[in-house]
Amino acid sequence: MGESAVPVLREETMSNGFTIPITGAEKTREVLNEVLKMRTRHDDVIVATYPKAGTTWLQETVWLICNNADTTFAKKTLLGDRYGWMEKSPSLPGIGLEELNTWPREQTRFIKTHLPFQLLPNELQNEAVGKLIYVARNPKDNCVSFYHFHRMNKRLPDPGPFGGFLGRFTQGNLIFGSWFEHVDKYWQMSRNRERSMYFVLYENMKKNSKNEIRKLANFLEKDLSDSQIDIIANHCAFDNMKDNDSVNYSSLVANGVFDASISKFMRKGQVGDWKNHFTVSQNEEFDDWYRKTTADSTLAFDFVL
Ligand code: A3P
Repeated sequence: MGESAVPVLREETMSNGFTIPITGAEKTREVLNEVLKMRTRHDDVIVATYPKAGTTWLQETVWLICNNADTTFAKKTLLGDRYGWMEKSPSLPGIGLEELNTWPREQTRFIKTHLPFQLLPNELQNEAVGKLIYVARNPKDNCVSFYHFHRMNKRLPDPGPFGGFLGRFTQGNLIFGSWFEHVDKYWQMSRNRERSMYFVLYENMKKNSKNEIRKLANFLEKDLSDSQIDIIANHCAFDNMKDNDSVNYSSLVANGVFDASISKFMRKGQVGDWKNHFTVSQNEEFDDWYRKTTADSTLAFDFVL
């Protein structure tokens, strides 16, 4: 399919037998199969999320924790030039798998991914290596954010009305698959890999970012002073990140991938915006689905603050 065609979603089975919906554009299947073979390194730092859970926020926070709160360098260097994206499409700018595979040994690789755990590099699935930070967000806000992202991102299928999109979210029929299976698998794995996997909740970051930054620094084995924590929290506050061109993806607006006149990448950054989107009956149905789906899970979310 050519770049200009409307992206279509279809189920594909990867070389390890895991099936996931992907868009037909480009070489997604080939890239995902290559990711399975990627070699991991003991000093890798990975930020993993279901899309729209706060990836960018945590990427910036984690990078600053690992780099002495150097906001000067961060402000002048695109996030996409500081992080590789494991499953990046070859036509998108930034660091992809090929560059990650040949990254200088003496430099830490900062990596982001939206892949479900089962599609991470085989080595990483089999063995606890490096540091992986997983960010999860309550599914109502996550779904709303993903909806607006589909509206403005020309490389994703048109989401249509919100109600239909919500249905596909609960069915897991969106890129990167089922929200619950994604979050739950990482949650389970992180219980057994406390030194190499760390679970962050978007809502906790909103409630008390300094506290979460301190805990993250502890997990990443970095000593930060109180003033460095203040600097990171301030730099990563929504109002500052939305105006920061190194993290707000204005470059993808400039090259026509995102249409900011429809919705901005840094849209609202709130907990509870779902209330402006769900009808009463959609909310009841969703709560019913959520109760059944998460009945055996120990993971709990705040839906409002
Ligand atoms: P909204 O669409 O609800 O505003 P991702 O980085 O995973 O694509 O997630 C994007 C979502 O995180 C968007 O949510 C965006 O506004 C929000 N976000 C980005 N930076 C943030 C920050 N510093 N604080 C709070 N939310 C942030």
